[in-house]
Amino acid sequence: MIDLGITGKVHDESRQGEALLLEGNKKKNNGRKLYIESYGCAMNFSDSEIVASILHDQGFETTADYNAADVIFINTCSIRENAEQRVRNRLREFTIAKVKNPGLVVGVLGCMAERLKSKFLEEERLVDVVVGPDAYRDLPNLIDQVDDGQKAVNVLLSREETYADISPVRLNSNGINAFVSIMRGCDNMCSFCVVPFTRGRERSRDPQSIVKECTELYNQGYREVTLLGQNVDSYKWKSESPKVWKSESEEDLGDIQIVNFANLLEMVAAISPQLRVRFSTSHPKDITDEVLYTIAKHENICNYIHLPVQSGNSRVLELMNRTYDREWYMGRIDAIRRIIPGCAISTDVITGFCSETEEEHQETLSMMDYVQYDFAYMFMYSERPGTLAAKRYKDDIPEDIKRRRLKEVVAKQQEYSYVRLQSQVGQVQKVLIEGFSKKSDKDYCGRNDQNAMVVFPVGDDYKPGQYVNVLVERTTTATLIGTIC
Ligand code: SAH
Ligand code: SF4
Ligand code: F3S
Repeated sequence: MIDLGITGKVHDESRQGEALLLEGNKKKNNGRKLYIESYGCAMNFSDSEIVASILHDQGFETTADYNAADVIFINTCSIRENAEQRVRNRLREFTIAKVKNPGLVVGVLGCMAERLKSKFLEEERLVDVVVGPDAYRDLPNLIDQVDDGQKAVNVLLSREETYADISPVRLNSNGINAFVSIMRGCDNMCSFCVVPFTRGRERSRDPQSIVKECTELYNQGYREVTLLGQNVDSYKWKSESPKVWKSESEEDLGDIQIVNFANLLEMVAAISPQLRVRFSTSHPKDITDEVLYTIAKHENICNYIHLPVQSGNSRVLELMNRTYDREWYMGRIDAIRRIIPGCAISTDVITGFCSETEEEHQETLSMMDYVQYDFAYMFMYSERPGTLAAKRYKDDIPEDIKRRRLKEVVAKQQEYSYVRLQSQVGQVQKVLIEGFSKKSDKDYCGRNDQNAMVVFPVGDDYKPGQYVNVLVERTTTATLIGTIC
């Protein structure tokens, strides 16, 4: 086991972080340094860890300084126009590094690579390699091709690839929380969304490999795993041999040959009561009561569900091809409130989707009043080439109206985020210490079960990775403040 230094930097609209440490089985040092920068969703960040692992096995070291790199990879996102624009701007900055070091290999990975394919090489001349999300095992060959003076592209999508056997090299890790990918791709055809085109068909990963990865993380000192998929509720694994897993309530379920998401949650939760389990993203059409009861039953499965609504209006939801309506969504919220009292709920909202009227926008606001979300990611609609909406509907809501509606949604969410935090003042909560707070090394920070950040003075007997009971005394707009009790 060799410890390596820093590797790359992460970027997306909501998060930025510095890499700390990575560990792994390195075969031979080839004297070359890799820099990876990631954009977009957690799946992309998780994929960068797979890429780092594949190249680590080829003897690459990683660096946090792209000027010191021999290979620069940028793992890209296509979800909105501005996500792509950010990547293009960043690529311009790498041009200078390439002028200084002509042997530098610049690769574009991820969703934008998949969307634009070899067109990328024409549009951005500095780019040497274009690799889609299912082709990372081919990276060593592709780099060889570039070393031989060619440009290299592999954007083949797969129906099977889950990288199940690859042990990700943890990037940007605090040694406590880790992402674990449980499936890839998406079979839903939400009309606004580019993901089914960039990530291909949905496929689930072998549950044994998921449990193995989570167990290894736990043994290394990690205390929280977030199970990742675009639609975790449709996780499904058909075992070729029976008895992949036995439920605690064997008489109810018997030998299981099909593992669904509720079963998988239970398998991961059983690793240790000290390992917290989170997951993202749930889809309102697929989240079952069985999943909710499983969350309620296990103390270490966190009471937090990200359930993107997108719009509160049934006509718009139909145009979006979300396959549920307002009433169905409210019914799912009622079920969460009934089965898991106190569960935190967050959402994604899109404003100004094609033909959305003012009244329909008001229904999104009234949905926010109904649910009182703890947290939300909110976006203006951005038309993506090739999607169903781009083909069928006109992107007819003017930018200033989209923006004004977004502002209203954001203002409402700020109110409810604060209300939800306020409601926790006076409670004693179990917090997993993640490290020092951003502002001071006299304070620790960590999250409670409901995923809210809690800051409290460092206690002598406690260190990151431990659980503490914290009395919440007050709140800022986004953080709970308390003391260990
Ligand atoms: N699989 C998840 C979401 C993945 S994309 C789900 O089904 O909910 C994350 C979020 O980006 C989406 O929930 C949506 O709110 C937003 N998004 C996706 N495409 C978009 C587009 N074309 N314009 C604006 N926002 C978009
Ligand atoms: Fe996109 Fe819909 Fe799939 Fe989410 S469920 S990734 S929004 S197509
Ligand atoms: Fe972006 Fe691809 Fe994720 S488009 S949101 S990086 S799946």
